[in-house]
Amino acid sequence: MTAENDYIELLPAARRDAILALRKENSRKLHSRKKGFLAYRLPYESVRHLRAASLDLAGDVVRIGSASDITAAEQQQVLQVLRGFMPWRKGPFQVFGIDIDAEWRSNRKWDRLLPVLPDIRDKVIADIGCNNGYYMFRMAHYQPRAVIGFEPYHHHYFTFRTLNSFAGLTALHLELLGVEHLTLYPDCFDVVFLMGVIYHRISPVEMLKDVWPSMSHEQC
Ligand SMILES: C[S@@+](CC[C@H](N)C(=O)[O-])C[C@H]1O[C@@H](n2cnc3c(N)ncnc32)[C@H](O)[C@@H]1O
Repeated sequence: MTAENDYIELLPAARRDAILALRKENSRKLHSRKKGFLAYRLPYESVRHLRAASLDLAGDVVRIGSASDITAAEQQQVLQVLRGFMPWRKGPFQVFGIDIDAEWRSNRKWDRLLPVLPDIRDKVIADIGCNNGYYMFRMAHYQPRAVIGFEPYHHHYFTFRTLNSFAGLTALHLELLGVEHLTLYPDCFDVVFLMGVIYHRISPVEMLKDVWPSMSHEQC
């Protein structure tokens, strides 16, 4: 997240200082020289300058760029980087012409959501447990003001950062934070997506108590 597209300015009620302090702590972690972090950070850094000329976020497959946007050598490099992010749990994606056939057909869950999806244009949205951001890319099709993904695992964090460095969607943001940090976001979100997380929590009710106040009063 660069200073100029920091979503935090959109959320006057957010606990800014605490969020910035956590970001600083996370940044230290993400830049650590430990093998587990380098394994994802270095590949991301090696390709983050590449830009997709087109996006297709409307279909089952999230398409970011096409093969002709980059050279054959760059495509090979991207392929190796994307392989390094395996296993891909959420998808499918196609990136610069490379098909990524994920473990889950996330488009099927999205299709079940569509009939009940509110109008998310210009809305501020949280996607808790966003994984590699598959749904965030699908949301971007509807032009939300901002989508903030909450995902505590650095593997998924760097996968998303890599995809979005190609896609260049400035409305999409990812925090290396978990649902337990939602208390830092009172009265912030017009829409909250909380999918596939509740049954992993020891206390689902306590979790919902953290999430509920993060919704904008107008939406409650
Ligand atoms: C079963 S997947 C669901 C992914 C996606 N939301 C979906 O519905 O397909 C659970 C996700 O929650 C993430 N997760 C794990 N602990 C979490 C926490 N404390 N807060 C938020 N997300 C968490 C996992 O890393 C994983 O990406």
